[in-house]
Amino acid sequence: MENLDVIIMGAGAAGLMCALTAGAKGKKVLVLEHTEKPGAKILISGGGRCNFTNLEVAAHNYISKNPHFAKSALSRYSPYDFMDLLAQGGATWHEKTLGQLFCNEGARKVLNILLEACAKVGVVLKVGVEVADVASVSAGYRVETSCGTFTATNLVIATGGMSIPKMGATDFGYRIARQFGLDIIEPVPALVPFVFDEATVAATKELAGVSTLCTASCGTASFRENLLFTHRGLSGPAILQISSYWQHGDTVVINLLPSIADVFSWLKDKKKARPRASVKSILVDVLPERLAVYMVGHDSGNMADYSHEKLHALAARLSAWTVKPTGTEGFKKAEVTRGGVSTDCLSSRTMEAKTQPGLYFIGECVDVTGWLGGYNFQWAWASGAAAADAL
Ligand code: FDA
Repeated sequence: MENLDVIIMGAGAAGLMCALTAGAKGKKVLVLEHTEKPGAKILISGGGRCNFTNLEVAAHNYISKNPHFAKSALSRYSPYDFMDLLAQGGATWHEKTLGQLFCNEGARKVLNILLEACAKVGVVLKVGVEVADVASVSAGYRVETSCGTFTATNLVIATGGMSIPKMGATDFGYRIARQFGLDIIEPVPALVPFVFDEATVAATKELAGVSTLCTASCGTASFRENLLFTHRGLSGPAILQISSYWQHGDTVVINLLPSIADVFSWLKDKKKARPRASVKSILVDVLPERLAVYMVGHDSGNMADYSHEKLHALAARLSAWTVKPTGTEGFKKAEVTRGGVSTDCLSSRTMEAKTQPGLYFIGECVDVTGWLGGYNFQWAWASGAAAADAL
């Protein structure tokens, strides 16, 4: 293959978007993927329906050392641009909740549209390729692989983060960044379930499978969505969201009754209205039964038996239940990686390394991590398109 304009490492969401956009500009594009299956994470996303974007995308939906970094790319490739691409390929979609768009025809349709768009503009995709060496040469970049040596003017790294290694995740992007002197913000699991210590696991084991609406907070971040008790700790959308803001040692405060503005006043009113009702029966009206039992503990008294102080303590437990996770389920269960190639080292307009012309980093390997709800794919599409525009 002679005179390549760009080699793109990784055939995931970002790499395929970059490839089809560059190909449409007439660039000669080679995509190298080390697994046999391009777009594997697209296929498993959104429970097989791919939550491909969110209608309310803005920079504040992303975590990054530089909170402004994502603005430029996100503003130039919007959720509507991706919807146009899907519509041209014959896909339809629906909004599930909170602006989250899912493909009616399933994740396979989304991936096929990307692959067909790449093929249409002459993108060459090679799968099952191992890279032995990457070097900067006078003509650009030389990549030695298990299927030959390739040289291109530009090299785009789109090899994703560390989540779910068994699906092909590697630290390749970080290694290349270090090789060329770029900084890395420590990659850690994000959008990931929490695990409890043994005593808390034992105390909450009856709750496994219970789900309830809550507001989960950590520091200044707060999410109102469902939580789910697991056999090892906590999961569910609210917990996954807050996990991205959590650091070892932090506590997480959970309001189990987010729809009740003042839980103490609400309990006081209930005591007045139904003094003979058991506390549990009052809570069962607003919480799943097993959770109500856990929150009341061994105290099976009636509302009338609850002193002012006891009602206060119960209100605090319900509206500010404080948990201290011992850790997370790690990369094997994380949906994404927080951290990655430092945005200080990249142009926010083009994703090109500031000190290494022709070298680009896009998608999840960059220190830009989206909330749950389609934001991570939107970053992959937008950063992929931004790099392609600059080629
Ligand atoms: P991505 O991981 O998609 O692609 C990287 C590619 O590079 C892979 O194909 C990989 O095999 C390849 N690669 C790695 N190392 C390589 C090497 N050394 N040489 C060559 N190739 C290499 N997001 C969202 O917005 N909506 C959703 O519904 C979901 N759902 C979801 C479910 C689950 C279970 C997970 C794990 C994740 C999600 N996500 C999500 C997150 C989303 O999948 C993720 O943010 C994007 O796929 C990131 O796109 P990238 O292209 O950056 O990496």
